[in-house]
Amino acid sequence: MTSLKINGKVHDVDLSPDTPLLWTLRDELGYTGTKFGCGMALCGACTVHVDGQPVRSCVTPVSAVGGKPVRTIESMASDPVGKAVQDAWVELGVAQCGYCQAGQIMTATALLKSNPKPTDEEIVAGMSGNLCRCGAYQRINAAVRLASQRLQGNRTGAKA
Ligand code: FES
Ligand code: FES
Repeated sequence: MTSLKINGKVHDVDLSPDTPLLWTLRDELGYTGTKFGCGMALCGACTVHVDGQPVRSCVTPVSAVGGKPVRTIESMASDPVGKAVQDAWVELGVAQCGYCQAGQIMTATALLKSNPKPTDEEIVAGMSGNLCRCGAYQRINAAVRLASQRLQGNRTGAKA
């Protein structure tokens, strides 16, 4: 039995220790906001936060998580930075098909927590591991910039 702390709630799961966190979140616990893309740590669709760090849940076994707090897209609306990112996403109409977006938002939120005022180059570099088959990269980067500005108290907008 493994105890996982997901979005502040403890879940006891009876799974093999090598079960990927992504499978556990989606299939066992119903946190289906986190998406399966490649299953090989290549696309970022499955990104969640473990102990505040962005990780690829498709290749993270539950045994490596232990009691560390896990945050998923379902909790971002109650996180000040996550909320600012989501608001910027909506304002700039970032999503196209939407499939990559949960992972993008989790990576963007982690980026702004570690670097609240990233340069354009740092945004591109920080988001570069998250793939978007729809090619929404310009809007994604603009929304990260807008969220950063809003969190700094700058109310001026940003264009995609
Ligand atoms: S599904 Fe995990 S990185 Fe692609
Ligand atoms: S919005 Fe479609 S894959 Fe990114």
